[in-house]
Amino acid sequence: MALTDDPRVLAPAVPRGRSCALDFEGSPVRAFGGESVAVALWAAGVRTLARSPKFHRPRGAFCFEGHCASCLLRIDGRPNVRACMTPIRADLRCERQNSFPSAEVDLLAAADWMFPEQMNHHTLLTGNRVANRLLISLVRQMGGSGTLPDSPPPTGSVPPVRDEIVDVCIVGAGPAGLTAAGIIARLAPRAQLLLVDEQAEPGGSWLAEPKGFALATTAADDATSAGVRILQRAAVIGFFSEDGAESDLRADAIRGTLAVITSDGLVRVMARRILYATGAYDQNLPFHDNDRPGVISARACGRLAFRHGVQPGRRVAIVGPTTYGDRLAAGLVSAGIRADRVCRVGPRGDRLVAARGATTLRGLILASDAGREFRIAADVIAVAATPAPASELPRQHGAEVVLDEDLGGFVALTDDRYQTKAARVYCCGDVTGYVGPMAAAQAGAAAAVHVAHSLDHT
Ligand code: FES
Repeated sequence: MALTDDPRVLAPAVPRGRSCALDFEGSPVRAFGGESVAVALWAAGVRTLARSPKFHRPRGAFCFEGHCASCLLRIDGRPNVRACMTPIRADLRCERQNSFPSAEVDLLAAADWMFPEQMNHHTLLTGNRVANRLLISLVRQMGGSGTLPDSPPPTGSVPPVRDEIVDVCIVGAGPAGLTAAGIIARLAPRAQLLLVDEQAEPGGSWLAEPKGFALATTAADDATSAGVRILQRAAVIGFFSEDGAESDLRADAIRGTLAVITSDGLVRVMARRILYATGAYDQNLPFHDNDRPGVISARACGRLAFRHGVQPGRRVAIVGPTTYGDRLAAGLVSAGIRADRVCRVGPRGDRLVAARGATTLRGLILASDAGREFRIAADVIAVAATPAPASELPRQHGAEVVLDEDLGGFVALTDDRYQTKAARVYCCGDVTGYVGPMAAAQAGAAAAVHVAHSLDHT
């Protein structure tokens, strides 16, 4: 789908960066510094970014923060790169992959039509060995994800590894992590603090709020001025209970390392305390064709509008039960979108049955309690489902997690001092159950007091 107007009509949270053009399948696409490839393509009206493996259903960006894998492109010759995690650069070359003849019109999507009850590989097998091999090869070709890079990585190039030994490592620079970092730094001024975050800029869920960027900037400035070092684009991939640089560690240090992937290589972080403020992942709701390009998370819709100044669509339908859906609807109108172009559906009344449209989203179908179906036109469906706590890192570290559907999924358990079952490991914010940015920031402040007092620097 291509929008005729430039949707960058709203005020971005900060002035747009330098204008440049990225190469999208041979055509220039206008982009601005500070945007990701996914945001620039969305603003250019490109909704279909990929095809699903196997059934080749059209896929578009959903979360815009690296967690759904619906935006995989071939970028600069490398397959399966997340467009939403790739910052804009003037000479970027982006292509869609795994489709024939194009991602918009993919003949291989016949698989979706031919196997409406799913494809069982076993029923494809024939009694003939040669035919079996051909069929399996064909299915693999059809179901694959991209092709190998244009050129192999240089031989002998091993990413550098470096160690960081700190007093406190905070994982996640959203409302909880940023707030906690600033307060710990002030309560324990001699402590070494490191805040790691996988996104391009600090803020987390604040960036989806109408005035959230200013809150995030203030909290990040507070933290850095108090001595916190913030590592952005730094993804923690796990905790490894190996011995680190033992001689440099304090007696009360956590024995083991956090492995952090950065653009400069691997960082092994050893800390006396770890505070996981990892937030929560955007979720979809169950309705027919909920994977259509144009169905995005409500928080992604908010970031497009409030952070990047991009009008998400010509008509946005906001569905789902959370109060964030209400804030988003009000915020879009306050940001300058005409009220008749924002439709808050539900949130608890009519049932969402299906998305309408194929590669171009046309709207949604709702059903009333009486069973009557009716249609609403929209080119964007923003899903305000309860986000799922990002509890896998604390769980892998030894924290206890339990399923709490009201709080979004598996939540990390803590005591009343925010400490988990794992020694010297703390959790706060949405990772302990989705509460939203304001309550998460308050939890970060409360947890910070306990973390700071557990050190001997206060
Ligand atoms: S991973 Fe890129 S949109 Fe979700």
